[in-house]
Amino acid sequence: MALLELVDVSKSFGGVKAVDRFSLTVEKGELVGLIGPNGAGKTTVFNIITGLYPSEGGQILFQGEDIAPLKPHEIVPKGIARTFQNLRLFARSSALENVMTAYRKGVYSFVEALCHMGKWKKTEEEAKARSMELLDLVGIADRADQAAGTLPYGHQRRVEIARALALEPELLLLDEPAAGMNAEEVEGLNATIKRITAELGITIVVIEHHMELVMEICPRIVCMNFGAKIAEGSPQEIQNHPGVLAAYLGEEV
Ligand SMILES: Nc1ncnc2c1ncn2[C@@H]1O[C@H](COP(=O)(O)OP(=O)(O)O)[C@@H](O)[C@H]1O
Ligand SMILES: [Mg+2]
Repeated sequence: MALLELVDVSKSFGGVKAVDRFSLTVEKGELVGLIGPNGAGKTTVFNIITGLYPSEGGQILFQGEDIAPLKPHEIVPKGIARTFQNLRLFARSSALENVMTAYRKGVYSFVEALCHMGKWKKTEEEAKARSMELLDLVGIADRADQAAGTLPYGHQRRVEIARALALEPELLLLDEPAAGMNAEEVEGLNATIKRITAELGITIVVIEHHMELVMEICPRIVCMNFGAKIAEGSPQEIQNHPGVLAAYLGEEV
């Protein structure tokens, strides 16, 4: 059974078909790249998977279960976490606090915490320890106490990834994690993404506008344009695909 299976999902905004009968199968343990020019529909695919927008028809199966009718907050505990194209951190909270917030959400509710103060203290310590491990995994443990908003951009993106990991997902959806990063930061990010799949065994779909990032780390790449899949294959196949080249024509690749 595939971990995630999208069959003919669609979403229109007014007259614009943002996603048009798009299908995608992701196996457990895979690291899949989702590329395409600006406006191709990549983010909307993530918004459909995570329940932000209902799909107009089609099917969304996660571990064989139909998750299409579920709300975003019901989908997270099923094992899907994401990062956003635009950063969504608590700027004045520390990097550690940002990660711990997500961890608490995953582990116990606020009311539960109030009812079991003793247990709360223990889990709070666990949350802190685990969150530190995650900051270490993404390479910024030394910045744990710094206010997230004052961190360099590349580091803020790493906090966001650690926060998504704190939800303990099976599937991690990264929306343009390299946006705004310089070449050196991108290299570090690539190493981090590889560690997440290798060390945590988490399946990843990563959206990227620029092709070279995904080419380096993703054995399989899917390319969209105008809401539809136009190509799928190895980096080599994608790089030489006439449709992909045409889609990117006039764009900086
Ligand atoms: N909330 C929205 N309201 C109106 N149009 C939207 C909305 N979200 C996306 N779109 C449109 O849908 C298309 C696909 O957008 P998006 O999924 O963000 O593309 P990508 O992530 O590939 O750049 C674009 O034409 C975009 O303008
Ligand atoms: Mg996008």
